[in-house]
Amino acid sequence: MNMNGKTVLITGSTDGVGRYVASELAKQGAHVLLHGRDKARAKTLIEEITARGHEAPSFYQADLSSLAGARQLADAVKADHKKLDVFVSNAGIGSQNNGPQRQESADGHELRFAVNYLSGFLLAYLLLPLIKAAAPSRIVNVASLGQHPIDFDDVMITKNYSGSRAYAQSKLSQIMFTIDLASELKDAGVTVNSLHPATYMNTTMVRAGGITPMSTVEQGGAAILHLVQGDDVANKSGLFFNGMNEMKANAQAYDAGARRRLRELSLRLTGLPG
Ligand SMILES: NC(=O)c1ccc[n+]([C@@H]2O[C@H](COP(=O)([O-])OP(=O)(O)OC[C@H]3O[C@@H](n4cnc5c(N)ncnc54)[C@H](OP(=O)(O)O)[C@@H]3O)[C@@H](O)[C@H]2O)c1
Repeated sequence: MNMNGKTVLITGSTDGVGRYVASELAKQGAHVLLHGRDKARAKTLIEEITARGHEAPSFYQADLSSLAGARQLADAVKADHKKLDVFVSNAGIGSQNNGPQRQESADGHELRFAVNYLSGFLLAYLLLPLIKAAAPSRIVNVASLGQHPIDFDDVMITKNYSGSRAYAQSKLSQIMFTIDLASELKDAGVTVNSLHPATYMNTTMVRAGGITPMSTVEQGGAAILHLVQGDDVANKSGLFFNGMNEMKANAQAYDAGARRRLRELSLRLTGLPG
């Protein structure tokens, strides 16, 4: 896809791999909608992009640890734009950000499930009219190889909590949502794919986990950009990629009953109509 003039929203683009992808797309002439919580980090990135002679991105500040934050972001984007060519749902927290203890979102949901999955679910639906209006258009969900099946008796992980389980559950939830949304949008000219960008990129999330980085944001960013604009994936949808290559996700992703339960729960928690 030629990105010149295309409008792209990348959540979590004030840091890490999202920041890299935003910068690369601005270089290609896209109108980039940056998102994050930190105005100062966004300002630095905007200055870097404009100093290279590219169009200044717009910045949308929103905290996705509350559903109200996701709604506020969608409202702000909708107020400014009628079409969205690409939505990259990338914002996330790792297994250890802010410590190893269980945390909750403003709405009382387990925090990783809320930030990494539920806010992206809500945003995708709220932005869908804009994404459909831009068809052929794409949604890219930045998930992970770290995947843990959902225990539907304890989705908020009140028992046997671990940060890595919470993170991996949220990432599998994104993949399960990708499959369902792709099928819902199969005649709308909108593709939806998810991916593991790269293993242990050198980002804040990885460093916060005390992990020694094994790859770069350039490597993970290339995999995200592949799904954003690759011609070879223009007609592929509902798939999970490991880097550049299609791959099977955790078995629960292919359990239609589990996906239905997740979908029903997500609609209920976000207050979206069924
Ligand atoms: N790093 C890896 O090796 C790796 C591997 C597999 C998958 N991933 C996935 O890649 C994506 C990006 O990760 P990264 O490694 O680039 O992480 P990162 O450097 O920590 O960046 C995370 C981004 O998400 C934003 N964010 C975090 N919490 C938020 C909240 N409550 N509300 C709004 N924005 C929030 C951050 O905004 P602020 O600037 O405001 O903090 C930042 O822009 C994540 O979905 C992650 O799960 C990463």
